[in-house]
Amino acid sequence: MQFGFFDDAAREYVITTPDTPMPWLNYLGNSAFFSLLSHRAGGYCFHTDARLRRLTRFRYNDIPADSNGRYLFVNDGGDVWSPSFAPVGATLDSYECRHGLGYTRITGTRGGVEVATLFLVPLDDPAELHQVTVTNHSDAVKELTLFSYLEFCLWDALDDQTNYQRNLSLAEVEVEGSTIYHTTEYRERRNHLAFYSVNCPIAGFDTDRDTFVGRWRPLAQAEVPHSGAPRNSLVSGWYPIGSHAITLRLEPGESRDLVFILGYAENPPEAKFVAPGVVRKDPARALLARYQTVAQVDAAMAALRGYWDSLLDGFQLRSADPLLDRSVNTWNPYQCMTTFNLSRSASGFETGIGRGMGFRDSNQDLLGIVWMLPERSRQRILDLAATQFPDGSAYHQYQPLTKRGNHALGSGFNDDPLWLIVGVCHYLKETGDWSILDEQVPFDNDPALAKPLLDHLIASYQYVVTNLGPHGLPLIGRADWNDCLNLNCFSDLPGESFQTTANRGDGRVAESVFIAGLFCYALPDLIAVLRNRPAGAGTDELALAAELEQALAAMTAAVDVAGWDGGWFRRAWDAFGEPVGSAANAEGQLYIEPQGMCVMAGLGVSDGRARRALDAVEARLASEHGIALLAPAYTSYHLELGEISSYPPGYKENGGIFCHNNPWVIIAETIAGSPERAFDYYRRITPAYREAISEVHGQEPYVYSQMIAGPEAPRHGQAKNSWLTGTAAWAYHAVTSWLLGVRPGLDGLVICPRMPSSAGDYEVTRRYRGATYHIRVIGSGTSAAGRLTVDGQPVDGEVVPVAAPGEVIEVVWSALRSPKSSVSQE
Ligand code: GLC
Ligand code: GLC
Repeated sequence: MQFGFFDDAAREYVITTPDTPMPWLNYLGNSAFFSLLSHRAGGYCFHTDARLRRLTRFRYNDIPADSNGRYLFVNDGGDVWSPSFAPVGATLDSYECRHGLGYTRITGTRGGVEVATLFLVPLDDPAELHQVTVTNHSDAVKELTLFSYLEFCLWDALDDQTNYQRNLSLAEVEVEGSTIYHTTEYRERRNHLAFYSVNCPIAGFDTDRDTFVGRWRPLAQAEVPHSGAPRNSLVSGWYPIGSHAITLRLEPGESRDLVFILGYAENPPEAKFVAPGVVRKDPARALLARYQTVAQVDAAMAALRGYWDSLLDGFQLRSADPLLDRSVNTWNPYQCMTTFNLSRSASGFETGIGRGMGFRDSNQDLLGIVWMLPERSRQRILDLAATQFPDGSAYHQYQPLTKRGNHALGSGFNDDPLWLIVGVCHYLKETGDWSILDEQVPFDNDPALAKPLLDHLIASYQYVVTNLGPHGLPLIGRADWNDCLNLNCFSDLPGESFQTTANRGDGRVAESVFIAGLFCYALPDLIAVLRNRPAGAGTDELALAAELEQALAAMTAAVDVAGWDGGWFRRAWDAFGEPVGSAANAEGQLYIEPQGMCVMAGLGVSDGRARRALDAVEARLASEHGIALLAPAYTSYHLELGEISSYPPGYKENGGIFCHNNPWVIIAETIAGSPERAFDYYRRITPAYREAISEVHGQEPYVYSQMIAGPEAPRHGQAKNSWLTGTAAWAYHAVTSWLLGVRPGLDGLVICPRMPSSAGDYEVTRRYRGATYHIRVIGSGTSAAGRLTVDGQPVDGEVVPVAAPGEVIEVVWSALRSPKSSVSQE
């Protein structure tokens, strides 16, 4: 069952009913000002930091979900309704929500009146624009009063939810004409304010929530819109809101446009008041002046569309499968942008309070974004590397406002350092920007400890090899990629952190086969980088490269001895020296992560173990809704394993389909010679292919979710935690680089298609280092070997050399048809 459809030409998802299984969100904003906006106009917005600069209030865990947004109440001769359905909930004669790239349009009709609102955050201004078009489709003159409504938050979203004794005595506003200035706390230590305005004269306003809503009433029955008259209330403490009342008289067929602006402004600290107690308003007014007309909003919208079109032009696929095209061309890269911008901080499942930018998460997010945003990727890499410690370990998270590491969480997640190598090597392959390796980057955010970025990568390597355990495998620390596999923290107190309560010896026993696989995956690229520096590799680099090769051989041997279980790769060794993810275990015998990662690293590919491991995955973990993280799921809590066993079977890391690692198996299957299976797995988790079962899936059909409930869960197939997940970048990487087989390399664009033959021929237009490549793929899946021509000339191997910026290159890959086999094994 579907609750909408894809409009591919417009690059929109069209939701046709307010009654979706869950709030279906969009994100507005690209750099500093971000908004979460549901199909019922719910959500909130913030500037730079979802915790410390939040403008509007959202209530998690409310009934119904998704409460508080930017709402409208229409009073049509006493009939009160909301065009986004919420908050009033009056039945609509028609409803439609179109989520587009950086904008959303919600249209509702009732009693012959249509109200359409276009929500967008312009490219260059910290503001949400709401362009409202009211049309009288009836035969009679309509006298309407429109009430806008939003609730301000007291900036620090955590304090806002916890510190009522202070906060309920703080609220202040100033009202000037049609603009409500939210100035709470401005008198003391902040120089920023929010404002909410409309481009027409108003009949009145309200800024005090309890006056607007009335005593003991729900928002749906708020007194002011139902009475039809604003009260001009000025908040003083308690709950600040912004509401405008606008009266409209519309002839039959007549339309009126209004532009609401919810903005953010900063003033110079020394000149924040223009007179004692009077807030400086010129930056705010200047912003307002830029959006006073529909033409100005149209121009902002055109700029936004142009921005997205030019970004997405960098990789466009034309295949026989429209679901694949829409995923690759629009929605997957769109989600990659959101995860890149927000990491895992603010969504329907992340409050924006607890988590900053993750070191491992943000490095992996680069896989989905460097091709679109090379400059911002570069800056992100430098920011991340600056939160690394001199010994190569790293702060697990940092706050975006300060870019400093988060002390409360600290370091000790022993996979973190290696993801920096993955991120930087990917950046180099995409951009060829070798200069980044020479950038001086602080350790521990201390400029006195700055070293070239390359030294950071070496520190990452050294951290792993100086922290090996009894089997020569990397020590796991607090956790590796799987945050919930906590082998050194034996927590038996409710409320204790599973990750940071260190109470189990010195942590020098428990080891991770996954980190070993990641090491073997990351190191060959670093070795190639050392050997291929354009300045010429010096003796230091060559010696280092040789050292890295030895370490790689040693790690490979350690995995062979202690990481292979007989039928698949083990997951870890626990603090007692017992295996995890082994046939010897009663539960949790087989884990997905090392199967995907070790095969991606090439381990076991030549001797058949990779095939056996992937066959075990297929037999024991795969389901119609994707591949579970492990099986059998843990049925009871294990002190020695930690949080993973705290979840009921089939949820989250305990045997849920944790979508992030499914692409590892997809890539592994392309490497181990099974494109049919790889693409089949891709379709099981990719939202466009799950749209038809939206009533089961539950979450948005245009973005990946972190998790789909696993086979052992009662709600198998139901998704949770959409939007902010590493699945976005990895799925994008898997489909573009490995299935479609167009991927960046250090010395050119690698063409290595691994789509199943059933997918047919396809074409890709790819921007790469400033040149444009038109790539035709003929006969993928009929053979892994192909013939490559570049501008009509045959080329040996699979690398298309780098062309000069601005050039347009024609590339053809055609399968070498072998008489007997369909797909040759590599
Ligand atoms: C969450 C975290 C990510 C981690 C994953 C598995 O998605 O953001 O860092 O790797 O869970 O535990
Ligand atoms: C919880 C979640 C896990 C996430 C972690 C981040 O453990 O289950 O998915 O990665 O928190 O700290």
